[in-house]
Amino acid sequence: MPSNKFFNRSIISIRDFTIDDFAYLFDLTDKIQSLTSNERGEIAKGLILGYIFYEYSTRTRLSFESAMASIGGRSLGISNIDSSSIMKGESYADTIKTISLYSDVVLIRHPSDGSSRYASEISDKPVINGGSGSEEHPTQAMLDIYTIFKEKKRINGLSIGIVGDLKYGRTVYSLIYGLSTYDVDIHLVSPSVLKIRSESIDDIPNNIKMFHHTELTDDLLKKLDVIYVTRIQRERFPDLQEYKKIQGLYTIDENILKRSKPDVAILHPLPRVDEISPSIDNTTNAVYFKQASYGKELRSALLSALLHENPF
Ligand code: CP
Repeated sequence: MPSNKFFNRSIISIRDFTIDDFAYLFDLTDKIQSLTSNERGEIAKGLILGYIFYEYSTRTRLSFESAMASIGGRSLGISNIDSSSIMKGESYADTIKTISLYSDVVLIRHPSDGSSRYASEISDKPVINGGSGSEEHPTQAMLDIYTIFKEKKRINGLSIGIVGDLKYGRTVYSLIYGLSTYDVDIHLVSPSVLKIRSESIDDIPNNIKMFHHTELTDDLLKKLDVIYVTRIQRERFPDLQEYKKIQGLYTIDENILKRSKPDVAILHPLPRVDEISPSIDNTTNAVYFKQASYGKELRSALLSALLHENPF
């Protein structure tokens, strides 16, 4: 049985964790869900999650808050930096230091690569990377892999397509690193201007089977067990005209489902814009809202493991 490697540790990059750590976390997620709400509510009693979001968020912030509440803890934070002393010129370092004085764990979303790693060097308490630039979003990838496991009952042996903005989408990098610890085929599908940044995945072992595509062809769709769709990151795009050229390029709709395996699972970290047609939301293939719901469950387990060596 794998042991708890999350205790009292900052969660900065998914690369810092192993397949055994994921197995521990997924098992703990299921165990915590099997507790009564009273039992669950004892885990983080008296403990506080502090957060600061320098970028917009719906799911990451709310699922962490909801997760912390479900295990009996509380949350406080800054969801809009316009209401904070950053507007008076307070530095990033002083802001993080201050949040860590009032909290037991600190969650950060920031537009710069390296921002969470830097914060973990300043904070008195463990830091969770809630999205750093176009670099990583490790807890999203943990919940993505957990979702695949719940849907498919395995990870090894699957063919997984990752589609859309592979250049700027931070969830993609965490997901590829996380999946590279398993025996999977990874099919990367993007227009050439949004290809994966090869320098950002150059330390992935050579034995990982990765294939590059520009189109969702019939041959490819027939292979895929999972299609992980990503939003084109308009806010990180240098030229809006270029963005408009590729907007809606790979919309997943009934036509794509007809050409795919009958049990293909469609995932998306959300928010979506026009990458997935709402007309497929009620199909058994649409897993993206279930995935968002698993986000709360997995983050309850992650916070429990981070706050207690033996969570219960
Ligand atoms: N998946 C995700 O990070 O969503 P938010 O941007 O809404 O937090």
